[in-house]
Amino acid sequence: ALVALVSTPALAMEPKQIQAALDRAYEKYKGLKEGANADYIPVLAKVDSNIYGIALVTPDGKVYTAGDVKSEVSIQSISKVFTAAKVMEQSGPDQIFGTIGVDATGMRFNSIVSIEMSKQAFGGPEMNPLVNPGAIAATSMVKGNSRDDIFNTILSFYSDFAGRKLTVNQEVFKSESDTNQRNQAIGMLMYAYGYIKDNPQQATDIYTEQCSVSVNAKDLATMAGTLANGGLNPVTQKAVMKPDNVPKLLAVMATAGLYDDSGKWLWRTGLPGKSGVGGGIIAVSPGKFGIAVISPPLDEAGNSVRAQKAIADISNALGGNPY
Ligand code: DON
Repeated sequence: ALVALVSTPALAMEPKQIQAALDRAYEKYKGLKEGANADYIPVLAKVDSNIYGIALVTPDGKVYTAGDVKSEVSIQSISKVFTAAKVMEQSGPDQIFGTIGVDATGMRFNSIVSIEMSKQAFGGPEMNPLVNPGAIAATSMVKGNSRDDIFNTILSFYSDFAGRKLTVNQEVFKSESDTNQRNQAIGMLMYAYGYIKDNPQQATDIYTEQCSVSVNAKDLATMAGTLANGGLNPVTQKAVMKPDNVPKLLAVMATAGLYDDSGKWLWRTGLPGKSGVGGGIIAVSPGKFGIAVISPPLDEAGNSVRAQKAIADISNALGGNPY
């Protein structure tokens, strides 16, 4: 499958047209003043709302950018994709399918009711690794000899996707650790119901740290580009994940990547995507491109306003929608 992907012409468009699509979307939404920074994690409210960067990576390893692709934000929920990927790599994809589930909850990303509904109304895992309960459970499944060993395994896996050594924003980690009582409760409830086998406090703590990893738009686009390229990082040429696991991960992103607005997103773009409350969104057009936009102001569902619009425009201009 990988050979087929790599030998297919990356995009029917010339580099100049790709760059023009990025530039157009950048200009079009630069002045947009909709949405607001997340503030339930106090330090996120202080991030510059004007940060706005676009990056796109093609399977031939070319990187296209527009705007600010140097400023870093915390990866937040986009991390959930790559931790789920690590669990699939270590324990096989059925570990996600069978013990967390791959269905949309239709509820907010930190819904406690969704845990109750999954357990009681349907009698099995009607959850997914991209909402907080499923993500904390996924983190609990990453193997390692100690708390720090597990975290370092996660961080170096993310770094392989990004093609550079990523680091943690300690201020964000502290701010969220001081205020994440709701996630601690979610971790404990997931433990009570058997999704988490051991040490839920540690799982929530590692999850909180993974959400605090610092990324710029180019990092995120390279991570998405690796998924667009069957798990082979197109910039570094490192095989980061098994090609067979990629379509499964993309399926979960298509189902639940933008939370309760995932259907609207798929309607507009046809692309598996993932958002984070730091303001980033990634999207993947398999065999064609990985794209990322960072812009901190969010809509009601917790998704970056500019990032949603810019990615939709660019993908539509480039024929990214596989449907
Ligand atoms: O657990 C949290 O609430 C955050 N660390 C991540 C949430 C998030 O990014 C949801 N995104 N739209």
